[in-house]
Amino acid sequence: LDLHLDLTGQQPRAALEHALREAVQSGRLVAAVRLPSSRSLAADLGIARNTVADVYEQLTAEGWLASRQGSGTWVADRIAPDDVGASRMTSKIHTSGRSRPRLDLRPGSPDVASFPRARWLAAARQAVQAAPDEAFGYIDPRGLPQLRHTLAQYLARARGVRTSPDRIVVCSGFVQAMSLLGTALQRSGATAVAAESPGVGLHRDALAATGLAVTPLCVDGGGIVTSDLSLSEGSAALLTPAHQFPLGVVLRPDRREAAIDWARETSGVLIEDDYDGEFRYDRQPVGALQALDPARVIFVGTASKTLAPGLRLAWMAVPSTLLDAVIAAKRVSDLHTGVMEQLTLSRFIESGEYDRHIRRSRLKYRKRRDRLVDSISASAPQIRVTGISAGLHAVLDLSGMSTSMSFEDEVVSRAAAQGVAVSALGTFRFAGEPGAHPALVVGYGTPSDSSFSPALEALCQTLSMA
Ligand SMILES: Cc1ncc(COP(=O)(O)O)c(C=O)c1O
Repeated sequence: LDLHLDLTGQQPRAALEHALREAVQSGRLVAAVRLPSSRSLAADLGIARNTVADVYEQLTAEGWLASRQGSGTWVADRIAPDDVGASRMTSKIHTSGRSRPRLDLRPGSPDVASFPRARWLAAARQAVQAAPDEAFGYIDPRGLPQLRHTLAQYLARARGVRTSPDRIVVCSGFVQAMSLLGTALQRSGATAVAAESPGVGLHRDALAATGLAVTPLCVDGGGIVTSDLSLSEGSAALLTPAHQFPLGVVLRPDRREAAIDWARETSGVLIEDDYDGEFRYDRQPVGALQALDPARVIFVGTASKTLAPGLRLAWMAVPSTLLDAVIAAKRVSDLHTGVMEQLTLSRFIESGEYDRHIRRSRLKYRKRRDRLVDSISASAPQIRVTGISAGLHAVLDLSGMSTSMSFEDEVVSRAAAQGVAVSALGTFRFAGEPGAHPALVVGYGTPSDSSFSPALEALCQTLSMA
């Protein structure tokens, strides 16, 4: 048997052990292949027989090889083929799926180049130094008490949320909140959840993965069409009342009341996605819907827009009826969210840096929004820019250029040819849901400061030629 073992550069024992293990792991030596006797392999390799015997013994103990007195040594059965190829491919797909084009005006991310690195690090340093030892052990699944306390105060002050630290559950991004709530709702008897259409497909998927049926909930200029909410008992609805994603409309006051009435009448709950509630430009932010009925509305906020999506930090204010089930779901999901980020966020908010960062960002994004509106009206006046009172994205209504729904994909392709990525509104609808008119969703918050102008220019050039 020619083994092609490369033993150069290491001690013979370590080299042989490594080479044989690698040969089995990679599948070069398949199950049941008989290995040479220790004597003959030692002679072939010019090393001591005992060295080979030791290595065979070691790899047999680890399960890579098998041997029986008098029958020699062979490659053990049941060794799964090496997964390296597959995992390399997965990670490539993963990174290429999220890798950003150079000029990126897709919605969903703030300008991550403006992440306040130095201030965040300073907060981390201070918080880690001051933290009690217990903070580094297994903590309450809801999160560090200090952070829950800070968040309860911040949410009351900045978003009008009515809650207490014991009702706050810190989680790993809004997506995990959907998984936890889906599981908890099912436990409480819910079978379905209505989600805004258009909305975020990933959030629908996370809810559906828990076994709930996810049904489309219509949105018009006043937010969700509350008369469409089902009258079945124990239902739930996911909505973005402060700034609908992606249409950008605010839930009308009468609909806020109607949604609450619906939840009360059906013993249902509303899941309030407050993803960008801090960014309102023309007047005071719309307060949280949750304040109207903390027993019927689960408030969910995230650091993904205010700081950075990579932090994977979000928080929920959970009604008492669902709290135990949410905690149980969090425990089996990941026990609790990592303490380093929790400690840092807590310090960041307490020190006032969070508010300062939001204020700076709000000013910057407002300027970008104004430039977007001005540039579009100069280069393509037939396009209406809507949903601009808040948030980090706007909707470009293309119906003045074409009524064909496929036009939005055409414009997305043409923009890509100019080097800029934008999203078609249709990508946010439920599969098969018709759209009223072609439109683009433009995330003006996404680019770095240096790439915002070229991205806007490329977009305007595309639209002026369309
Ligand atoms: C509508 C909406 N909700 C919530 C989020 C935040 O999600 P996460 O906290 O998982 O990053 C986003 C991010 O793009 C969003 O667009």
